[in-house]
Formats: sequence, structure tokens, C-alpha cells
Amino acid sequence: MLELRDVDVFYGKAQALHGISFSVAPGDIVALIGRNGAGKSTLLRALAGAHGLTRGERRLDGDIITRLPSYLCSRRGIALVPEDRQIFSSLTAEENLRLVEVLHPAGYWTRERVYRLFPRLAERRKANGISLSGGEQQMLAIARSLLANPHYLLLDEPTEGLAPIIVDAIIAAISEINQQGTAVVLVEQNFKVPQLLANYFHLIDSGRLTWSGPPDRLDEARDLLIVGRS
Ligand SMILES: Nc1ncnc2c1ncn2[C@@H]1O[C@H](COP(=O)(O)OP(=O)(O)O)[C@@H](O)[C@H]1O
Ligand SMILES: [Mg+2]
Repeated sequence: MLELRDVDVFYGKAQALHGISFSVAPGDIVALIGRNGAGKSTLLRALAGAHGLTRGERRLDGDIITRLPSYLCSRRGIALVPEDRQIFSSLTAEENLRLVEVLHPAGYWTRERVYRLFPRLAERRKANGISLSGGEQQMLAIARSLLANPHYLLLDEPTEGLAPIIVDAIIAAISEINQQGTAVVLVEQNFKVPQLLANYFHLIDSGRLTWSGPPDRLDEARDLLIVGRS
């Protein structure tokens, strides 16, 4: 299990997370939903070890890993796909994948299997990162992180701004990734995609979790998000 316990995070003097407790267990797809600026990306980075905690703990399978740097968190099986995707735009899709493939031990996810997961990416394997569409870049970013064979995959707004047909491909991929044994934290601004995938939901507002619950209580959360918007 990957956990944050009672975590505060600051940017300089500005507090971005307040007393966050959050956990994701093997098998889970946990959704984190909130408006722009609510603290979603900060929470994901805190989970991935990419941002220091001012207070509280990060734990992995019971080990306290609060100060473990992000590259070691990555070796322990935590993979973050950031909002800006961070692929190498001057390299081809194939080269982007080969680069990470050599860094990680072999596991279920191989280049062949990620191409099978995203056939569109296989067709575009010779294209430079810069010429890939937003959806193709998102597929590449997810594919690349899978080659690390992570136990926990943290996805920051993976469907934001993408065409419906691409969103469907990404939804199907997340479902398969989870079925193959990787737990997922899915960050989105609304319920549309998470409600098709997640088995647990959290709402975040102004750096605080304001609601948490299972799918059958989602109506309460919808009301909260709408009230919060007005
Ligand atoms: N690098 C940064 N420096 C200063 N403040 C930041 C930085 N990144 C985010 N913030 C602030 O932290 C809060 C949460 O941001 P973020 O986690 O990016 O929200 P979300 O992902 O939900 O849009 C916002 O008030 C934002 O302005
Ligand atoms: Mg964000």
C-alpha cells in the first residue's frame, strides 16, 4: 500500500496541502477529483516523492519513505505520468520507449505489449515526439511509464483536452493496466472518466480532502463539487 499520512506541503510560504491522508492499495483505481488549483498535481507529486513534505509521512508497504528521493521511489515501483507528459520531443516514439526500457528490469510490460495496448502508437512509432498529437503523446507517456513495470501508476489528467475516441482508448488502457496488476491513482477535474474506472473517490478543494467514498455514494460528491463551483 502507498500512503500519505497527515501531510502538509508548501511552495515557499504558500501552503498547498493541508493534513492530507490518502492511500492506494494493490488492485485499486483511486480517483482524485478537484478544480484547477485545488492541489491535485501537488498531491500526486507528494505521493511520487517528487515534492518534499513539510509535515506528515509517506509510506510504502509499511516502510516510511518520506525522504526517499523520486528516482528511488520510481525503483520501488511508483510511476508518475505528469500533466505535461515530459516525453523527448526530438526523439521518435520508439526511441522514447527504448531509452527507458534499458533502465528497468523486464516484467509483464514490454515494448511489444505497450504497442498492443496502444495500436495507434505502434503505427506512429517512427514519428518524432514533437509531431505526435496530444493523445499520442499521452499514450507514449503512459507506455513509457509502464516499461518500468510499476506497482503504482499515478496519472495526472490523462484525458484532459483529448478527442472522445482517444479518451475511450485511454480508459480501456487504464482498465487493462489495472487488470494486469498495477494500482492506479487517476487525477481528473470531473467525474466523467473516473466514474467509469475508479473503486474509490476523493474530492480535493483548496488543498484539503473534502469528501471520500465508494462509487455507490458518488451522488453526495457530485452535489459537493457543484456547490463548490457556485
Ligand atoms: N511551482 C509552484 N510554485 C508555487 N505555487 C504552486 C506551484 N505549483 C502549484 N502551486 C500552487 O499550489 C496550489 C495547488 O496547485 P496544483 O497542485 O497544481 O493544483 P491542481 O493540480 O489541482 O490544478 C495552487 O494554488 C497553485 O497555484
Ligand atoms: Mg494539476
